[in-house]
Amino acid sequence: MGTCMHNAVLRLENLTKRYGSVLAVDHLNLEVPPGQIFSLLGPNGAGKTTTLEMTEGLRPPDDGHVYLGNVDVIRHPAVARLRFGVQLQTSAFFELLTVRETLELFGNLYPGPLPVSDLITRMGLEEKAGARVEALSGGQRQRLALGVALVNDPEVVFLDEPSAGLDPQARRNLWDVILGLKAEGRTVVLTTHYMDEAEVLSDRLAIMDHGRVLDAGTPRELIERHLPAAMIELDPDVAIGADPSGIPGVLSIERRGEATVLVTERLEEALVSLVSWAGREGRELRGLRTRGATLEDVFLKLTGRSLRE
Ligand SMILES: Nc1ncnc2c1ncn2[C@@H]1O[C@H](COP(=O)(O)OP(=O)(O)O)[C@@H](O)[C@H]1O
Ligand SMILES: [Mg+2]
Repeated sequence: MGTCMHNAVLRLENLTKRYGSVLAVDHLNLEVPPGQIFSLLGPNGAGKTTTLEMTEGLRPPDDGHVYLGNVDVIRHPAVARLRFGVQLQTSAFFELLTVRETLELFGNLYPGPLPVSDLITRMGLEEKAGARVEALSGGQRQRLALGVALVNDPEVVFLDEPSAGLDPQARRNLWDVILGLKAEGRTVVLTTHYMDEAEVLSDRLAIMDHGRVLDAGTPRELIERHLPAAMIELDPDVAIGADPSGIPGVLSIERRGEATVLVTERLEEALVSLVSWAGREGRELRGLRTRGATLEDVFLKLTGRSLRE
């Protein structure tokens, strides 16, 4: 952070929003490079939606600026909106229109919209083109919302919690569609509170909490910057205390519901001393496995809380 990106497609400067006494977005600075997927990752209430809507020019900030290239989005939202695609909340659809009619309706709002049949194919909605919106599944509605976001052939696509409420298969389908947008050269800015989604999709991401960006970078950069560590996991019923001092190489022992997690920067040494500890104490190392650190671990380290709380 701190370094100025010369080719940023979006620049958020000092962006600030208050709701009464709540500082929802707190002097936030971000730069989004073109042609990549950028995620705002954070728990509910972190300020993701407010940040996104200010960036889209839909919600006026109390302070700060948003630039799309050289265009001041806050002062010229109509200019910016021609180049933006915004995924609508699905509830905003007309339930009695068909998929095709919905895309035609929104396409008519723009000069030179993309052909409706292309959008239907791209979103995998061929079989539902003539079906009413009310008859779509959650995943199909999300893909229709994405299709609507694309009608004006936008340079930047904004997606607010795109996979919220979808089953695992529908999420994967949607991820493929989102990766397809990047393959077409578009910039995608999305919000999510799912660590796995951020890890799979993001070229860069910003970890947000309480209206602030705690850190930003590629997933790998964030993990290496905050946790140059590996994790040894054991089943939670293995009787091992919270004190790592008897197991050289282990930095800390944490209980995380589904596993007991031993954090180490020296995996081999930690494994050897864990095995000899188990021998000494007569314990079985049930469920022993190792893994690298994840964004979930980074979030826990930065905030002291789990994303899922
Ligand atoms: N229209 C609003 N009026 C008052 N408070 C709001 C409004 N929208 C959001 N907030 C508050 O601002 C904070 C950030 O909300 P939001 O941007 O929706 O976060 P997120 O999308 O990360 O869940 C929360 O504390 C939320 O309660
Ligand atoms: Mg939100």
